[in-house]
Amino acid sequence: MHARKILVFFGGCSTEYAVSLQSAAAVLENLNPARWAPVPVGITRDGHWYHYTGPIAAIPADTWHQDAAHCARCTLNAARGAKELWLADGRRIAFEAAFPVLHGKNGEDGTLQGLLELAGVPVIGCGCLASALCMDKDRAHKLAALAGVAVPKSAVFIRGAAQGDILAAAEAIGWPVFVKPVRAGSSFGISRVDGPGALAPAVEEAFRHDDEIVLEETISGFEVGCGVMGNPGGPLTVGAVDEIELAPAGVLFDYTEKYTLQHSAIHCPARIPEETAQRIRTAAKTIYGALGCRGFARVDMFLTPEGRIVFNEVNTIPGLTSHSRFPAMMRGAGYSFPALLDRMVELGVQG
Ligand SMILES: Nc1ncnc2c1ncn2[C@@H]1O[C@H](COP(=O)(O)OP(=O)(O)O)[C@@H](O)[C@H]1O
Ligand SMILES: [Mg+2]
Repeated sequence: MHARKILVFFGGCSTEYAVSLQSAAAVLENLNPARWAPVPVGITRDGHWYHYTGPIAAIPADTWHQDAAHCARCTLNAARGAKELWLADGRRIAFEAAFPVLHGKNGEDGTLQGLLELAGVPVIGCGCLASALCMDKDRAHKLAALAGVAVPKSAVFIRGAAQGDILAAAEAIGWPVFVKPVRAGSSFGISRVDGPGALAPAVEEAFRHDDEIVLEETISGFEVGCGVMGNPGGPLTVGAVDEIELAPAGVLFDYTEKYTLQHSAIHCPARIPEETAQRIRTAAKTIYGALGCRGFARVDMFLTPEGRIVFNEVNTIPGLTSHSRFPAMMRGAGYSFPALLDRMVELGVQG
């Protein structure tokens, strides 16, 4: 059996470019070479596509794009079903499916998935609609709520909204409120605001990342996550539930904290009763289905001191290094990292 060619996208025009480089290197190192032949496509921060054939180590080091001998400008042949990468020097590389290992805007948000779907390319992971919905913290909450899952009280504002209206919404929700861009990731643009004095700068910061912002009620307790894998209509594999411990309580799980874990610890499995973990797994599956996810996703929720489960967000392309949360959850379901990647790709190729 020959190895099947799979485009592996990395980088991207996103504030999470650097995170993608880490994930993509781990994916490229751990994909089963007997089954899959990766065709790496690096997207620079300003959006240029290169077929990259140099050493994997240059990807996380972010020197890959300086290696002109191993970078060939390329583009996707968008003709339906062509499944072809066009290189600037005239070469064409046929492939079977594409794996966007990209985080955040312009990669995890449905835009690339839409282009691939237009071109008839099977996508590894969620498709255009689910990716776009999961990137949108407001619309995702509305759909999860319709499916019967609890969500934080919230209010949405578009750029240009009157400060007085935003303040009134914050007062109605109650302090502290979380102020977030509707579409962002890795905690960019997110603040917890304790009172009226700090609201305006937080709103300004959130608007730097998106044209819409959301004010959310602060949910007490801690954040839990649950990995889900599978296609609509097929069986869903649900991983172990993990828990983010923040110490001291109240410290923000921001970008630095996410990748250094100085004031936080991730416990997988979570230190919670099995009955609670079971309810979280069920909620994760409900949310996955409500948002039309396929392939895989990591569903993040809050667990309150009273045992309520409140939806936070779905990451359709979660961190994919061997020490990331989603692979750790799936180890709890019996998948080693290479076996997990094998299954993820298989689910996408199956269509
Ligand atoms: N409504 C909320 N209540 C309590 N904590 C929150 C709330 N929203 C976000 N947080 C905290 O902020 C972090 C980042 O917010 P999140 O919505 O998950 O954004 P991102 O997509 O950037 O991960 C969360 O991990 C959590 O610690
Ligand atoms: Mg989050």
